[in-house]
Amino acid sequence: MDPIAYVNGSFVPLSEAKVSILDRGFLFADGIYEVSAVLDGKLIDNASHLARLQRSLGEIALELPESLERIEEIQKELIARNELTNGTVYLEVTRGADRGRDFAFPKGVRPTLIMFTSAKDIINAPSAKTGVAVITVPDIRWTRRDIKSVALLAQVLAKQAAAEAGAGEAWMIENGLVTEGGSSSAFILTQDDVLVTRHNSNEILPGCTRKAVLKLAEERQLRVEERPFSIAEALSAKEAFATSASLFVQAVISIDGKPVGTGNPGPMTQRLREIYVEFARATAV
Ligand code: PDD
Repeated sequence: MDPIAYVNGSFVPLSEAKVSILDRGFLFADGIYEVSAVLDGKLIDNASHLARLQRSLGEIALELPESLERIEEIQKELIARNELTNGTVYLEVTRGADRGRDFAFPKGVRPTLIMFTSAKDIINAPSAKTGVAVITVPDIRWTRRDIKSVALLAQVLAKQAAAEAGAGEAWMIENGLVTEGGSSSAFILTQDDVLVTRHNSNEILPGCTRKAVLKLAEERQLRVEERPFSIAEALSAKEAFATSASLFVQAVISIDGKPVGTGNPGPMTQRLREIYVEFARATAV
């Protein structure tokens, strides 16, 4: 079956889903995206993703193309039409297609809204059991990483370098400190059991999974510090992990070929993953 995509008001076969070559998402990366997980046909932590969508759009002065309620209805209809059980829904809003290529915002142009789904067994992904290796790369991104922009070339290059090195993720380094992963938030658990992840600012994306995991950890009296950490600190930590909508909580077992902790997924990482999955199932819509 050809999967179904959503393009500007219509559900169409993915192979026929098209936007203009003048679309500003294509020409300027003038757009915002979100990825929400799906478990058992239901959206995970979607209100958090839609709130971030609204904020990112606001930061680039782009209006919501539909109400958040309508966007969620479309996400749900797409999940149903694709009979998606487990995976992700991708959505993207761009400033639309003008008649030419002017940098300044066009007037009277309708934003583009597209969505498609991808099947993925997030719970039973092999790397959920084994953990992943991470490499480090310089963080060469712009300084508004809090905006979930579709301008992802730095992350494409970082993740390609990781793939070529046989690693699952790249941790980006700025001024000697980890900012975040190419498409995930970065955490460590120190030797005295403090959960450390960088504080939210313009330097990282405010991860929805990061936010939920921090709340769940604090509710369980785990000590949390939101501050940057170095690779040296990560290598002397007990455990390390990454979070994202498409991974949930994913153990990091080595950095640049050197083991973190025992070199295996740590017990706290596994526990936080279980706790997150429980939260996800309990709050799915
Ligand atoms: N990436 N940091 C970056 C740079 C990301 O691209 C992502 C998500 C995250 C984690 O955010 P969240 O927990 O809200 O998914 C952190 C998505 C999954 C992607 O680009 O596919």
